[in-house]
Amino acid sequence: MADNNLIRPDDNIQIPVHVGVIMDGNGRWAKKRGLPRKFGHREGAKNFRTITRHAKSVGVKYITFYAFSTENWKRPKDEVDAIMELFEKYLDEVRDFIDENIRVRFIGDRSGLKETLQRKMASVEEDSKDFDSMTLVLAINYGGRDEICHSVRKIARMVKDGELQPEDITRDLIEKNLYTEEIPPLDLVIRPSGEQRLSNFMIWQAAYAEFYYTNILWPDFRSEDFDRAVIAYSERNRRFGGI
Ligand code: FPP
Repeated sequence: MADNNLIRPDDNIQIPVHVGVIMDGNGRWAKKRGLPRKFGHREGAKNFRTITRHAKSVGVKYITFYAFSTENWKRPKDEVDAIMELFEKYLDEVRDFIDENIRVRFIGDRSGLKETLQRKMASVEEDSKDFDSMTLVLAINYGGRDEICHSVRKIARMVKDGELQPEDITRDLIEKNLYTEEIPPLDLVIRPSGEQRLSNFMIWQAAYAEFYYTNILWPDFRSEDFDRAVIAYSERNRRFGGI
């Protein structure tokens, strides 16, 4: 581990199993430097790799990055194209994670994405499916409300086909039909850049998550900042509705 890491293996720290990261502030990072917004996304994408590796080194088992929301299509075409290009590029590089025993999964509505991108996503998932050191989840064309609709639609079809009765619909069943399927709920959500909202990110899975906000813009968010979030999480008292 690098020397500037704040968490040491023998520290008595509760490591969250599943961390969600809302990569916010790329546009402002670029603007502050007088650069087009897409440069901010480029830096943000680089940082996603650094933080993924760091999360693995501290013992996080699942990390989800909110990379593109169902609402992000409203952005100027030039910016959307730049983000899609970054996905293509990083999907090729994400193959490096395979050598590091990291399983890669995608959540979101893939049908709205370019065919080449969809094919790359499927092949990375397939090639990494048996790895177990950590699961990296990328939320692309993802929306929490959309995901719940998608689950409910699947269940409605089963009811229509007579495979299920309405009474069989439980929280568990809805959960199993979400994009996340077997991925555990979020323990900690990190949102940099000063915004304090969930923005339709894993609204079901974040029901009991702890939140950590910081004013640092995502491209400037370092491994030490990740450690600070984990330490803050470790100091909280989670009650899950109990006392
Ligand atoms: C939010 O910052 C960021 C996005 C909507 C895009 C995030 C995408 C990437 C970092 C690119 C590639 C990712 C991967 C995983 C390869 P913002 O643009 O809303 O920032 P602002 O609030 O300062 O405008």
